[in-house]
Amino acid sequence: MRRKVVAGNWKMNMKHAEGLSLAQAVDNFLLGNDLPGVDVILCPPYIHLAHIAGSLRAPNISTGAQNCSDHDAGAYTGEISAGMIKSTGAEYVIIGHSERRSYFNENDELLNTKIKIALKNELRVIFCCGEVLSEREKGKHFEIVKSQIEKALSGISREDLADIIIAYEPVWAIGTGVTASSGQAQEMHSYIRSIIYKLFGKEEAEKALILYGGSCKPSNSAELFSMEDVDGGLIGGASLNEDDFCKIIDSFPGK
Ligand code: 13P
Repeated sequence: MRRKVVAGNWKMNMKHAEGLSLAQAVDNFLLGNDLPGVDVILCPPYIHLAHIAGSLRAPNISTGAQNCSDHDAGAYTGEISAGMIKSTGAEYVIIGHSERRSYFNENDELLNTKIKIALKNELRVIFCCGEVLSEREKGKHFEIVKSQIEKALSGISREDLADIIIAYEPVWAIGTGVTASSGQAQEMHSYIRSIIYKLFGKEEAEKALILYGGSCKPSNSAELFSMEDVDGGLIGGASLNEDDFCKIIDSFPGK
C-alpha cells in the first residue's frame, strides 16, 4: 500500500501571521484526527518556512519550499538554495511547477539540475508535469508529459527516485475551476506509472507516489482520490482555506 499525500502549494499568498495561523489549524486538525497513511505537506512562501516548520507537532505533517536555486551558494542576489531550505527544517521542495516554467522560463534542463541539487541537500522533491490545453486538444498530452518526466529524471538513480513525488498538474486545470475528470486523471497517472516502470522497473513504479493538481477541492477530491493511481493531491487555491484543505485531507476512501 502506498502512502497518501496531500500537499498545499500556497504560491505567493499569506502574510506571516496568517500563514502561521493556517498552519496551526491544519496541524491541530491532524492531531485531533487519526489519519494513518496520510502525509500532509505545507508549502508556504520561503520566508515563513522556518517559523512554520518549527511550530508543527503532528507526526504526519511537514513543510516544503516552492522552488530552489540551481546553485549551491554564492553571489546570486535574491535566490534561495536547497541547503538553506533544508536548514529551516523543511523536508520537501516543489520543482517544475508550470508557473515557474511559464513565468520564469524554467526549462527541462534547469529543472533536472534543480532536482539533483535538492536531492544532494537531502530534500525530497515534488516534481510537477502537465500539458497546456492546446497540447491536450492536439492529443499530445501523453507525449509532453513523457518528455517532461524523462528529461527531469535524467541521471537520477533508482535509490533517488524514492525521494521524488510526481505531481500531474494539467495546466488548463490550474486555478481555472476546471478539474480533470477522475477518468482523465487516472488515465494520465497510470501512464506516468508506466513511464516509471520503463525507466526504473516494476517495484519502483508500484511504489511511486503520483499526485493530481489542478482545481482540486472538497467537492471533487474524494472522487479523484478514489482512482487507483491517484495517490493524493497538490492543492493550490483550496489549500489557503483551512476548512477546505482539511476536508480534502479527510477525503481518501476507506479511511
Ligand atoms: P489550484 O488548486 O489553485 O488549481 O492550483 C493547483 C496548483 O497549481 C498546485 O500546485
